[in-house]
Amino acid sequence: MPIIANDRTSARFITLEGGEGTGKSTQLKLLSEKLTEAKITHIRTREPGGAPDAEAIRELILSGGKDRWDPVTELLLMFAARREHCRRTVWPALENGQWVISDRFTDSTMAYQGYAQGVGRAAVEQIQAVTLHHFAPDLTIILDAPVETGSQRVKSRGEGNRLDNMDAEFHQAVRDGYLDIARREPDRCVVIDASAPPEAVADAIWQVVNGRFLAMRDCA
Ligand code: TYD
Repeated sequence: MPIIANDRTSARFITLEGGEGTGKSTQLKLLSEKLTEAKITHIRTREPGGAPDAEAIRELILSGGKDRWDPVTELLLMFAARREHCRRTVWPALENGQWVISDRFTDSTMAYQGYAQGVGRAAVEQIQAVTLHHFAPDLTIILDAPVETGSQRVKSRGEGNRLDNMDAEFHQAVRDGYLDIARREPDRCVVIDASAPPEAVADAIWQVVNGRFLAMRDCA
């Protein structure tokens, strides 16, 4: 099975995570600009999606009514899309030496399906082991903001998919889930205050990325 171990390449896999309206898409774009300035070849991608068939699964997941899927089916659909995303997009890029920055990855499934939908950590970890073996991001930035701040941003944009439209209690469980993930994996995850202005958030993210992966390069 063509699973790429994280240490087989110097290319990095960075994921951005967070609840609704925490500004992930904006921050992914700003991070991409900074990587380009630093001459780091990279691709930008997203989940669910990031490859043609994974995008088709995304459409299934995000359209329809709130109760269209039961939480376990949703979990399986997320990992089906993720496997396709990795196989078609993420692993080939890393093998080519390109960095990959992704708007969401497995922590979304843990926060949304595992914690907020109540499927539980163990079920997510089991499917994750089957789907990805030991593959994981080198760095995960968790954008954290109060639920009300995020909801207001989404409302003002007039957006909202099947999951965005869940109630405040659900979104609070997502936020708490992310903070718990960060507590459990402090080496991989960095929590950044997303209620600050976008430029300040972008600077905080860049400090982490630069400090972890690039500053050493400048000293070499
Ligand atoms: P998207 O429109 O990309 O929203 P956002 O801007 O919030 O990222 O929709 C993705 C939605 O899917 C979002 O509500 C989170 C949810 N999701 C899960 O529930 N589990 C997952 O594993 C992933 C990747 C996303």
